[in-house]
Amino acid sequence: MESSPQVKLAPSILSADFARLGEQVVEATKAGADYIHVDVMDGHFVPQITIGAPVVAAVRKWTDLPLDVHLMIEAPEQQISQFVDAGADIITVHIEVCPHIHQVVKAIKELGVKAGVSLNPETPVAAVSEILPSLDLALVMTVNPGYGGQSFIESMLDKIARLRAELDEKGLAAELEVDGGINAQIAPRVVKAGARVLVAGAAVFGSGQTVDEALKKLRAGLL
Ligand code: DX5
Ligand code: ZN
Repeated sequence: MESSPQVKLAPSILSADFARLGEQVVEATKAGADYIHVDVMDGHFVPQITIGAPVVAAVRKWTDLPLDVHLMIEAPEQQISQFVDAGADIITVHIEVCPHIHQVVKAIKELGVKAGVSLNPETPVAAVSEILPSLDLALVMTVNPGYGGQSFIESMLDKIARLRAELDEKGLAAELEVDGGINAQIAPRVVKAGARVLVAGAAVFGSGQTVDEALKKLRAGLL
């Protein structure tokens, strides 16, 4: 039998209780999360304004896990160094706002952190083909970015599979991350399609269970 692939879980603090953010990050860390996913929104690229670099710096004090910072902002190149200084380990920008993506990825890497590029649901895989060899992470949005707690878009399964095939065919090591509407039912399906890092917000912090129970449930479906 084929062995199950190694899958990382990245709880998104967007659905955490911000009044006790430090505790929630500690809970996720103790529960065996692999990354802490931080959703940065600017009120332009997406409607909400959420988290900035000072909050990333605060989260940094509560965990040794890699901070996976997802920038849903326009002109991300102007903000990268602030997030690196705050303690980000992975910085992901959206291809839709980066006409000069090679320069942005280079700038991220020169600051000593990992570089990711994200695609909105309607952005084709081909939009990132040329940059894939330079990436540490490729993020397929499985909802339209902007809010936690939305429903997974089913047609993204095929997109994940096509990106997986392209990475494998070219022998590229970028981690394939998915973000939006991931829960214990959907997790095994996105992994089967080729995802290797699963972001989950509402399923971890907004589910009425403890963070530990929620992460166990997500993992259980993958075995
Ligand atoms: C959506 C964000 C996600 C969000 C996912 O715009 O990028 O990271 O927190 O939340 P859930 O898992 O609730 O869809
Ligand atoms: Zn995200």
